Amino acid sequence: MAILEEDKFKKVIAHAKEYGYVFPSSEIYDGLSAVYDYGQNGVELKKNIRDYWWQAMVQMNENIVGLDAAIFMHPTTWKASGHVDAFNDPLIDNKDSKKRYRADVLIEDYVAKIEDKIEKEVSKAAKRFGESFDKAQFLATNTRVIEYQAKAAAILKRMGQSLANEDLADVKALIEELEIACPLTGSRNWTEVKQFNLMFGTKIGASAENSVDLYLRPETAQGIFVNFLNVQKSGRMKIPFGIAQTGKAFRNEIVARQFIFRMREFEQMEMQYFVRPGEELQWYESWKQRRLKWHLSLGLGAENYRFHNHDKLAHYANAAADIEFKFPFGFKELEGIHSRTNFDLSSHQKFSGKKLQYFDPEHNESYVPFVVETSVGLDRMFLAVFSTALQDETLEDGSMRTVLKLPAVLAPIKAAVLPLVKKDGLPEIAHKIIDTLKFDFNVVYDEKDAIGRRYRRQDANGTPFCITVDHDTLLDNTVTIRYRDSMQQERVKIQDLIALISKEVLPKYWLEKC
Ligand code: GAP
Repeated sequence: MAILEEDKFKKVIAHAKEYGYVFPSSEIYDGLSAVYDYGQNGVELKKNIRDYWWQAMVQMNENIVGLDAAIFMHPTTWKASGHVDAFNDPLIDNKDSKKRYRADVLIEDYVAKIEDKIEKEVSKAAKRFGESFDKAQFLATNTRVIEYQAKAAAILKRMGQSLANEDLADVKALIEELEIACPLTGSRNWTEVKQFNLMFGTKIGASAENSVDLYLRPETAQGIFVNFLNVQKSGRMKIPFGIAQTGKAFRNEIVARQFIFRMREFEQMEMQYFVRPGEELQWYESWKQRRLKWHLSLGLGAENYRFHNHDKLAHYANAAADIEFKFPFGFKELEGIHSRTNFDLSSHQKFSGKKLQYFDPEHNESYVPFVVETSVGLDRMFLAVFSTALQDETLEDGSMRTVLKLPAVLAPIKAAVLPLVKKDGLPEIAHKIIDTLKFDFNVVYDEKDAIGRRYRRQDANGTPFCITVDHDTLLDNTVTIRYRDSMQQERVKIQDLIALISKEVLPKYWLEKC
């Protein structure tokens, strides 16, 4: 990560803590690696993201319904899904530093450095050519850039092939050939590469003899697959239809870093769309576009998203892509869209001995449906939204302000009501305003410090509106409403506040863009 980006990322983490968004887990005991708690504002932001997803997926689609399956599942589930045998990360230890790394991540980090070099060439050329600069043409014709691209592609291809063929010796050979060193010590003294299963095990049962080994689910998707027939029959669902679910998932991540980007306990928002065999690739393309539109509706900037189509497919998929987002540490996966064939349902059918088929009245035949999955990490969405929203601005008078420009629909607190002074009946009016607004919105009262400081505090907290009660309010029942992003102020009637705020924060006005 470049120094500027690293500074920005440190700021994001510090701000999240200072303003009650994210705390390290059990911090008084020095925390627990890659586990985080959401504070008073974080829990609201997280809930608003979850609701925004749920409304777009379930409420807005007649043929998609919700589910809340348990975290504990019968252990055979994970045998059938392939997680017991294949949910592994390739690990490598450095013999000198005793540090453990994911071998694929070491190689990907090496490739990221090559990509940084390409970016540098691009910005140098953009400066040199000014307005006439054509990025696409430059990327396609500059010899140095072409060399870099070819090198990066060759490394990734070889790694992909070696991992697919379980050729871990070649993964190690690649690390050695590229002279990749331990990032902490610079040592190149590596062990062999080994596979490590990411599922957390636990036990259910009262005594050691009677207990059964279980896993904490590493994805929510399997809860949907095992309930496929329950939902289809009880809801009389007709194909194509979807089942959506949000909930916790657990992975014993080895390279647990980058704050809430890669956690050991995290939350997923997943939807499995059941379709006719042969129609899955059409639906896959359609869901790729629909999910991108959902992201774009939040207004974080189209330039911050890109698709990454997978060359190397998981054994169950016949197409897969990530929606990548430009996090402070570069473009990384935010959401996965996978055409999962009928692998999961067929496998559960085989392991359970129960038919998991659908009778298609239009085609007068029974079949195991194919599945298109959309899967986005709630915590990653949180990080995408929060890190993009956090900005330092230089104002016209040369002063600085830190502002958290959260999309208003997601902001934890929609408005702060501020009496200009703590006397003359202004606090009482402010409380009355809160009493009328609180049925529709999360609002707060703040009377401490000068009004300018209170505005700054609410800016940094991400509150889209400040409503100030002053002496004119006593005369004409109007207040000043101040907009967080533009800092513009206008005088409005108290009775118009609900309509005005609704227009800016209600999901319906945002979902229309999906
Ligand atoms: N059911 C498919 C599935 O689980 P995945 O690509 O492994 O696919 C889907 O995960 C999404 O879950 C990712 O795009 C990411 O947003 C999120 N995710 C995965 N592992 C995570 C972790 N360790 N911490 C936070 N989010 C994670």
